[in-house]
Amino acid sequence: GITRHYTFNVRMANVTRLCGTKSIPTVNGQFPGPKLVAREGDRLVVKVHNHINYNVSFHWHGIRQLRNGWADGPSYITQCPIQPGQSYAYDFAVTGQRGTLWWHAHFSWLRVHLYGPLVILPSRSQGYPFPSPHREVPIMFGEWFRADTETVISQALQTGAGPNVSDAYTFNGLPGPTYNCSSKDTYKLKVQPGRTYMLRLINSALNNELFFAIANHTLTVVEADANYVKPFTVDTLVISPGQTMNVLLTASTDPASQAFAMAIAPYTNTQGAFDNTTATAVLEYAATRPPSTSSIQSRRLPLPALPRYNDTAAVASFSSKFRSLATAQYPARVPRAVDRHVLFTVGLGTDPCPSNQTCQGPNGTKFAASVNNNSFVRPRTALLEAHYQRRYAGVLMADFPTTPPRPFNYTGAPPNNTFVAHGTRVVPLAFNASVELVMQGTAIQGAESHPLHMHGFNFFVVGQGFGNYDPVNDPPKYNLVDPVERNTVSVPTAGWVAVRFLADNPGVWLMHCHFDVHLSWGLSMAWMVDDGPLPNQKMLPPPSDLPKC
Ligand code: C2O
Repeated sequence: GITRHYTFNVRMANVTRLCGTKSIPTVNGQFPGPKLVAREGDRLVVKVHNHINYNVSFHWHGIRQLRNGWADGPSYITQCPIQPGQSYAYDFAVTGQRGTLWWHAHFSWLRVHLYGPLVILPSRSQGYPFPSPHREVPIMFGEWFRADTETVISQALQTGAGPNVSDAYTFNGLPGPTYNCSSKDTYKLKVQPGRTYMLRLINSALNNELFFAIANHTLTVVEADANYVKPFTVDTLVISPGQTMNVLLTASTDPASQAFAMAIAPYTNTQGAFDNTTATAVLEYAATRPPSTSSIQSRRLPLPALPRYNDTAAVASFSSKFRSLATAQYPARVPRAVDRHVLFTVGLGTDPCPSNQTCQGPNGTKFAASVNNNSFVRPRTALLEAHYQRRYAGVLMADFPTTPPRPFNYTGAPPNNTFVAHGTRVVPLAFNASVELVMQGTAIQGAESHPLHMHGFNFFVVGQGFGNYDPVNDPPKYNLVDPVERNTVSVPTAGWVAVRFLADNPGVWLMHCHFDVHLSWGLSMAWMVDDGPLPNQKMLPPPSDLPKC
């Protein structure tokens, strides 16, 4: 492999959307940020210079960072943030991975503006396990807020409030013609009849799972979170924040029209603010006699049929289709024996409302979120440094509960798992422990799913279902042959999901809901993995420019 150098100058820039201009943090003045490209086996060095008035750090979402948590990026977990005027070089190797990933800021809610694709090409000798597409196109779904950055962030951190709602969904930063004065801000994908395109889809939205479809076209899913899957073809797909998906799109040889709508709309059981919010983009065929672009932009293209916003059955049916390729070349290394069984309840909870606030949680309480009723408290110094120096006192406690403090039961009404404790707690894991983690959703205020993202690892999704997880009858049905391997999985609305992973990566690794509002409310925890006995199983030493708190 080779070493590829990138420079991220983080600075403010004016961007106009929905008829309003605001100053946003950008990388090199670009929004969305630049695409990074590497090939499997390369080393990446991304030198970040922070020229804005906020702290910042960057996460390379899905990169395993073997033994090298120093480059993982979540502020106060693996590093102190890069302060205004400071610099830090993220230096990491891309080994044993290829596919579509992405990068985003990992301080507060800054990822609303600071994100971009991270494409890892397969080694030249390996190529793709399907015919090479004519062209590859990253498409990032996002959200746009009219409010300025400070307002968005302070609303997010004001924990008495409900989730703040964005004003538009976007395709590569563009809202498209369903929003006021946005026709000129329409993403357009140009295709030639009969050619096959690979769309590298990335959901970088803050708080919403999204349905995606293209009118009159089907999509063949070939990869999820940078892991190949057995190809399957659908009309509509679902993608959670944090997830990535490669899909093949074959352009018709005889299209019924010259342009078709691509559409995204949220999947949520939270009725109200998100209804009827569909963003569109245009799939445009090259033709011998093209009409003027303005006629395409002004024409209302027929929307593809999308499931209703609360169509949980459609989501479950879609997520059940994923299978690892599980071939000799791309084996599914599912842990067979399990050393550690962990059961987490994940969901929203409540805190008492401070007397000087009005709170929007149930019965006037303040919203919180938790894993096993622990609402994660952001430490003041980086956990990874504390771990490397074995100096834990006053920084973290290694007593994170690995079973729910009170058994959860959907049939018990009202749900009894809504109280939260607060603390910076981690689960210690022996090097190479094989872990089975079952995550049970605890829905209050209507059902809602939670896209759980794990740093430092991929896991295999061996089972999922609705209602209460049944420790006797569910495990015998697990798929241990070809389960999908991912880094982000949705704990289904009013249901559970079971994953397995091997703790072969020493360090401290964050796991959290990829809805930023839930992360802010504490739906987060960390795994603390020991060094192994061999020299090449130990954490690397910290780089000399590691930021200080
Ligand atoms: Cu993509 Cu911790 O995040």
